[in-house]
Amino acid sequence: MSRRILVTSALPNANGAIHIGHLLEHIQTDIWVRYQRLCGHKVVYVCADDTHGTATMLKAEEEGTTPEILIERIRQEHIADFRRFYVEHDNFHSTHSEENRVLSELIYERLHKRGLIFTTKVEQLFDAERNMFLADRFVKGECPRCGADDQYGDNCEVCGATYDATDLLNPRSLISGTAPQLRESEHYFFDLPQYSEMLKDWTTSGTIAPQVANKLSEWLDSGLKAWDISRDAPYFGFLIPGTTDKYFYVWMDAPIGYMASLQNYIDKHNEVTFDEFWAPQNESEVHHFIGKDIINFHALFWPAVLDGAGFRKPTRIHTHGFITVDGRKMSKSRGTSIDAATYLDFLEPEYLRYYYATKLNGTVDDADINFDDFVQRVNSDLVGKVVNIASRCAGFITKQFDGKLAAALDDEELWSRFMQAQDAIGEWYEAGDTSKAMREICALADLANQYIAQNPPWVLIKEEGKRDRAQSVCSMGINLFRVLMIFLKPVLPKLAADSEAFLRVKPLIWSDVPTPLLNHEIAKYEPLFTRLERKTIDKLVAASVVDEKVVEKVAEEESATAATDHISIDDFNKVELRVAKIIKAEPVAGADKLLQLTLDVGDHQRCVFAGIKAAYDPASLIGRLTVVVANLAPRKMRFGISEGMVLAAGPGAAEIFLLSPDEGAQPGMIVS
Ligand code: 2FM
Ligand code: ZN
Repeated sequence: MSRRILVTSALPNANGAIHIGHLLEHIQTDIWVRYQRLCGHKVVYVCADDTHGTATMLKAEEEGTTPEILIERIRQEHIADFRRFYVEHDNFHSTHSEENRVLSELIYERLHKRGLIFTTKVEQLFDAERNMFLADRFVKGECPRCGADDQYGDNCEVCGATYDATDLLNPRSLISGTAPQLRESEHYFFDLPQYSEMLKDWTTSGTIAPQVANKLSEWLDSGLKAWDISRDAPYFGFLIPGTTDKYFYVWMDAPIGYMASLQNYIDKHNEVTFDEFWAPQNESEVHHFIGKDIINFHALFWPAVLDGAGFRKPTRIHTHGFITVDGRKMSKSRGTSIDAATYLDFLEPEYLRYYYATKLNGTVDDADINFDDFVQRVNSDLVGKVVNIASRCAGFITKQFDGKLAAALDDEELWSRFMQAQDAIGEWYEAGDTSKAMREICALADLANQYIAQNPPWVLIKEEGKRDRAQSVCSMGINLFRVLMIFLKPVLPKLAADSEAFLRVKPLIWSDVPTPLLNHEIAKYEPLFTRLERKTIDKLVAASVVDEKVVEKVAEEESATAATDHISIDDFNKVELRVAKIIKAEPVAGADKLLQLTLDVGDHQRCVFAGIKAAYDPASLIGRLTVVVANLAPRKMRFGISEGMVLAAGPGAAEIFLLSPDEGAQPGMIVS
């Protein structure tokens, strides 16, 4: 039975180029879409650029242009990049579109009418110089847990703590460089907790891989919070109906962009209807492909919003992991964060499509790129195994038999081994486990090559009375190649199209597999695929290094880090450590993790804020001795000035152990 399927990939942000990370997801989706189409299902594959938010506004400002001009330029670049990788979106729209505005307003109004929207006052960091509230990524400061400097407003890259931007010590705005103020503003919230039970059922009903559903159930069990869906002006986005300075948070209208892109496609092609995909309880399917970092938006907020607004929920959320290169995060300075356009200056798109297919297995495991393995897979599997079958057999057919294939299959047993593989390969495609599909295809290619080696046409052709057999063997080889090309067609559309031209057949489909080409004339063989040279990859990596200065800086930083493995005694002597007695310990209003300590340091008292609240009852600290860094420059915090730092060990939260000297030590004593 033919299925009707709406498919989406996550919407790329409209503030940068498409890189190999985006390509993992879009290639994964495209393979799935092509497989479905090959099977005769009706698929509409839509995407768009995710345009809204402060980042777009600031980037446009930096470039001296308008957000609208900026996002349209980037959209065109994105479209071109994806096309060149044979990613065939039916429509690539923009979230800054009329369709999206209309749908976002409609959804909001419906949620509002059903009492699912409320407002409340929120305290946030505000850049008084730029007159704007600051999103977490536009604030940096010191981590409230470990004190590391230069940390963003949501989590610490040094100790892994997560916190609110308002907890940062010594925060600074990344936009103006000034210290932000704390200001109140009214925000709009979606009442997500109302959907806890629905989401518990929905996330465990086969919509999401079990590994991911388990993660979600941790969140669901610990209780959902209402979702803040508004941002204050200035913001690049859509105004919330009935307001003049409140905008939809980018994550509110971004997934609605999936619907808007479909609507735009319908307006252009009029082949399907909006309701056939989005009306509740319809028989079509909706599949989203996303990375694991945005699962909460797609598997919690989005289904709840859809339900609240009277639309159907997605059929499946296909979630993939991150890309690593040689086990490390992609890095611009190492040249491993490779843009699509740079890749294409050096390499064929199908190399990457195939390599990703060998890596993807339908789970959230990270996909590691190893360049030696990349070369090996492409050359050994595609050139050495698959294409080799055609190139070994085609010459004889053309030169000795006028391009004509034999009238019967030479090895029925081998043929049926190929036929039996079809269902499993199809199921692996359906489940997104292309890694297993590619392995099986390679195993089949090995069998085909063994068969040719055991029945060498180049020997048969010279033997008395074996000429027909040579034709049969070569024809069998060509037919096995044809089956492999159908199996590989979702991954390698260009190679498949070139092979169809060589085989002189119309575009092959999945159900063509069991019908061999007999008494059929093929075209002269032209090389179908070229080997990949390792040195070309090295050139690509070198060209992807973003900026020599950046590289130098990284190298300097790395050698500086190496040099700081040891410090000199002079360095150590710069730190003045003193014994201190805690004479007062109090919680700090508005700070979850801090205690305010009053310390006796011998000749005077000091006030120090310490992130030890989770580990200590303030009363138990009074009278206790500890060690303080006495010559640390005073730090201005939201709650007052911290004059030093007490020393503690441990990973943080409730596991913190304050250092104490043995009994008898006196406040003010120098620690050395
Ligand atoms: O994470 C991102 O890059 C987002 N732009 C993805 C949005 S997907 C969808 F919800 F719009
Ligand atoms: Zn930290």
